[in-house]
Amino acid sequence: MNANSSNSLLVVPTGALKISEHPLTDFHRDNPILLSLVIPTYKERNNIENIVNILSRLLDEAIPGNYELIIVDDDSPDLTWELAQSLLPDYPQLRVMRRQEEWGLSSAVIRGWQVATGRILGVIDGDLQHPPEVLIQLLQKIEEGADLALASRHVDGGGVSSWTIIRRFLSRGAQVLGLIILPGVLGRVTDPMSGYFMVRRSAIAGATMNPVGYKILLEVIGRGQVREIAEAGYIFRERTEGESKVTWKQYVEYIQHLIRLRVSTGRLGKISQKVNFPVGRFIRFGVVGFSGVFVDMAVLYLLSDPSTLALPLTRSKIISGEVAIFNNFLWNDAWTFADVSMQQKGWNQTIKRFLKFNVICLAGLVLNVVVLNIVFNLLIPNRYIANLIAIAVATIWNFWVNLKLSWRVTDVK
Ligand code: GDD
Ligand code: MN
Repeated sequence: MNANSSNSLLVVPTGALKISEHPLTDFHRDNPILLSLVIPTYKERNNIENIVNILSRLLDEAIPGNYELIIVDDDSPDLTWELAQSLLPDYPQLRVMRRQEEWGLSSAVIRGWQVATGRILGVIDGDLQHPPEVLIQLLQKIEEGADLALASRHVDGGGVSSWTIIRRFLSRGAQVLGLIILPGVLGRVTDPMSGYFMVRRSAIAGATMNPVGYKILLEVIGRGQVREIAEAGYIFRERTEGESKVTWKQYVEYIQHLIRLRVSTGRLGKISQKVNFPVGRFIRFGVVGFSGVFVDMAVLYLLSDPSTLALPLTRSKIISGEVAIFNNFLWNDAWTFADVSMQQKGWNQTIKRFLKFNVICLAGLVLNVVVLNIVFNLLIPNRYIANLIAIAVATIWNFWVNLKLSWRVTDVK
């Protein structure tokens, strides 16, 4: 069966960046193909036909009918996707995705893998800087037992063609920095920057990827269950058509990515995964809640103490409670849930989150009182223990409902 039965574009998956254990369609679930190779592209109009042609000829010979090429284009202004689409009738193993709502190299690769029907998932650049023949070696290494096989510039047979000293220095510098921050991942391969590799689907199925920027390999090794890794040398060729999309921004993102991976694959991250609960977030939420107690106390003192304003107690408490809620919101928005609020910028969104947070916390207060009464009157006739239990229940409620409602990504650009 052909990989594409029509000449239409692939539907872009949405939601979590997670690879399923099996291909999604019933047919391919029972009959997966061997290799799904993703070619991420952005403004590669002058390369695309060439690379599709070369890869098809190579793979038609090596594994005829047992592969697919998946181009994932981020709506290139040079209409790379349209040109790719026009190739569909001539290349039965080709599939094309045009993304318009999301962008970036790493997520492009994962979106491509999500629709893949293969047992082995691979990626190769679309600009012919990665020599296609190496694919056969990579494939062989996986068939010999490796979970992941990457093309490396830093083993025998590898190298870069004519890089300046500065570029070599930057590239190595990034690698050393990575080794310091994330030795468990970068220490496993000689070329962690490689964007040319293959991995068994089973080794990354089920892991939610959270990549920033360019370095998808780090994500795969960091979050997957990759046991054996093999490498094949390759010479990184010079570009002849189009230009590189790497700017200083990719260096910043690279560092962010390292730190994020470090945190989420560290001890706390592992516990979170095991118990399927965001432990780190909950701790931050708790710390913020604790700060709210002091804010509440301070404001209550300023308003109601006989030596200060001496306002009535109830009125003072309502104000101090509300100020504490406001305090907690600010910290939670900027810290506990910073990753989520960053995706939902703008005053409108912030105010919406604040109102939700407010309502949920007030409901939490009611819950607090109810639980206190139930526990005290029916279970444990000690008001302080009962209160501790009530506070714990209300905190968990506050955290969980806010996690699900207030800091939830509702509109993805
Ligand atoms: N879909 C999509 N979206 N594709 C992209 C994007 C994007 O935002 N940015 C770049 N690409 C595609 C390019 O069209 C190309 O096919 C491939 O990703 C690599 O991009 P380049 O801009 O050519 O990267 P490079 O040559 O500097 O970097 C290469 O070498 C690195 C090692 O030094 C890539 O192979 C990297 O993956 C590799 O890590
Ligand atoms: Mn390139």
